[in-house]
Amino acid sequence: MTSVLVTGCAGFIGSHLVDFLLSKGATVTGIDNFRTGKRNNLASALANPRFVLLEMDICDSSLLQRVAETYDTIFHLAAVSSVKLSVENPALVHRNNVDGTLNVLELARIRDAKRVVLSSSAAVYGNPSSLPVNEESPLNPQSPYAASKISAEEYLVAYGNSYGIEPVILRYFNVYGPRQTCSEYSGVLSIFINQALNSEPITVEGDGKQTRNFIYVDDVVRATYLASEANRARGETINISGSEAISVLQVAQAVLSAVGQTSSRIVHLPERKGDLRDSIGSMSKARRLLRFKPQVSLNDGLRRTVEWHQLESCSP
Ligand code: UD1
Repeated sequence: MTSVLVTGCAGFIGSHLVDFLLSKGATVTGIDNFRTGKRNNLASALANPRFVLLEMDICDSSLLQRVAETYDTIFHLAAVSSVKLSVENPALVHRNNVDGTLNVLELARIRDAKRVVLSSSAAVYGNPSSLPVNEESPLNPQSPYAASKISAEEYLVAYGNSYGIEPVILRYFNVYGPRQTCSEYSGVLSIFINQALNSEPITVEGDGKQTRNFIYVDDVVRATYLASEANRARGETINISGSEAISVLQVAQAVLSAVGQTSSRIVHLPERKGDLRDSIGSMSKARRLLRFKPQVSLNDGLRRTVEWHQLESCSP
């Protein structure tokens, strides 16, 4: 691997991916608008001469002028990642996730990128008729966020067909770990950990019986890297999911015991609009094409994430 571009490089997953790619010897250009990304996340990358940071928005019309090189692989992670925010502000999500993706694909076309790896989402499946959900299942968006990811996927496929770019679509399930922000629009695990550490009530939305396949960020990064390298991944759509299914209520209890918190209580809020009931992914395609299997158990991942929260402030 030689020269790669990472959009969303200062974000939760993007910054871990940048660190990993640099450790593999790649030369990395990163783009971030710092809407939710943080400079702190890039502390070690910025000290590396093989890393270049471009502070800009992927939607900017100046993207092509600012990014003049050719890249072997573009990892496209920049996006609004919140289902909740998409229900409140669908136009913002469309601009970032659809218009932004189109702009990045134009860059890939004009600068002759070989492969584009898109970080998509399990949200595209909606509430499937059978579980675990595999990549052939019908798409059924329950939120504007899910619709934006389906659109981004379709544009990637179209660019593959029209211009010969090698598309790879990764449908991430629920990713957690250090550097995840903790605003109301962040992933549930960082919200719960932050609440538990501050002795605040744990806010379970709905009955808490909705289930998720949480996957630790290091595993997601490894899968994303494998997807950029494997010949077999070309043109494929692949679930990247954790192996343990757990309900939100069970996660709340697991967080309380990982933090050692006895005074926080669990409170129930109304169910979220656009929320999925069960999001459990089949991993057989990732195993077959990428030889990928998650390595970090939920217990270990939770412990590492709690340790990070104890040391760092997880601002929105
Ligand atoms: C998450 C990701 C999304 C990703 C998708 C893949 C975030 C913010 N969202 O969506 O980017 O594409 O997985 O499937 O990282 N909940 C509570 N209390 C809270 C917050 C959330 O009970 O305070 C519940 C929600 O109602 C939901 C579950 O926890 O049922 C998960 O919510 P969330 O972490 O926002 O993730 P998803 O919507 O699954």
